[in-house]
Amino acid sequence: MKKIIAFNLKMAPQSLSQAQTLADLTQTYANKNNNAEIIIFPPFIYLNELINLKTYKLKNLKFGAQNCFWKNSGHYTGEISPKMLKNLGIEYVIIGHSERRQYLNETDEIINKKVLAALKTGLKVILCIGELKRELRIKNKGLRKAKNYVKKQLKKDLKNLSLNPQSLILNSRLIIAYEPIWAIGADHSDTPEDAVEMIKFIKQILNPRFSILNSKVLYGGSIDGKNIKNFVKYKEIDGFLIGHASLNLKEIKNIIKSI
Ligand code: PGA
Repeated sequence: MKKIIAFNLKMAPQSLSQAQTLADLTQTYANKNNNAEIIIFPPFIYLNELINLKTYKLKNLKFGAQNCFWKNSGHYTGEISPKMLKNLGIEYVIIGHSERRQYLNETDEIINKKVLAALKTGLKVILCIGELKRELRIKNKGLRKAKNYVKKQLKKDLKNLSLNPQSLILNSRLIIAYEPIWAIGADHSDTPEDAVEMIKFIKQILNPRFSILNSKVLYGGSIDGKNIKNFVKYKEIDGFLIGHASLNLKEIKNIIKSI
């Protein structure tokens, strides 16, 4: 199974030409790698241009969106619908990133509506979950508190996920990114062992409760060209959601080469 490498560019770079350069160079490494599915998540404003560029230049590279709204039509100034993304040829959307939860006040209720709408529209959703505080890990017994937190979050974010047989195909497009918030944009990642334990735990929830078989769970939080080697060997980790290293060519090269 190919590992997913999702490069989340967040609110960068500052111009389309810089985004194109980044995508071109990422593609050079992507074309040499058949073991990974590589997706760049640029700001919305560059998506149209980049996806069109793809048709004649970029081969082994996909583009995704960092967010979407929970309705496909209506009066919602400034929003982008899942359908617009789908019509543009976009396959993936990130929903519930911790920065949107923190700075845009996205609640689990909002995230839940977005997840349902995006799945129903046929997009692949990368739903970000993860505990806020490192203390949940170290001051208490093992990962118990972090697990409880993540379990509750998953329950709220996936509320009313349809379990009728037709919907199960759409549900199989759901990918979880386990991102302990204290490890995002930090100078340290989680330990691979703890990340694997959390990922196994998440998979155990997805299977019986939401009937999602063969669920995919990514790890995110300060992955770079060096530390990825410690994670990549674990079969339980289906890929990586990568933030700040996505803007550094040396890191991009090492990350792709390590898979
Ligand atoms: P980071 O970000 O790699 O900079 O920690 C990950 C993310 O925000 O998804």
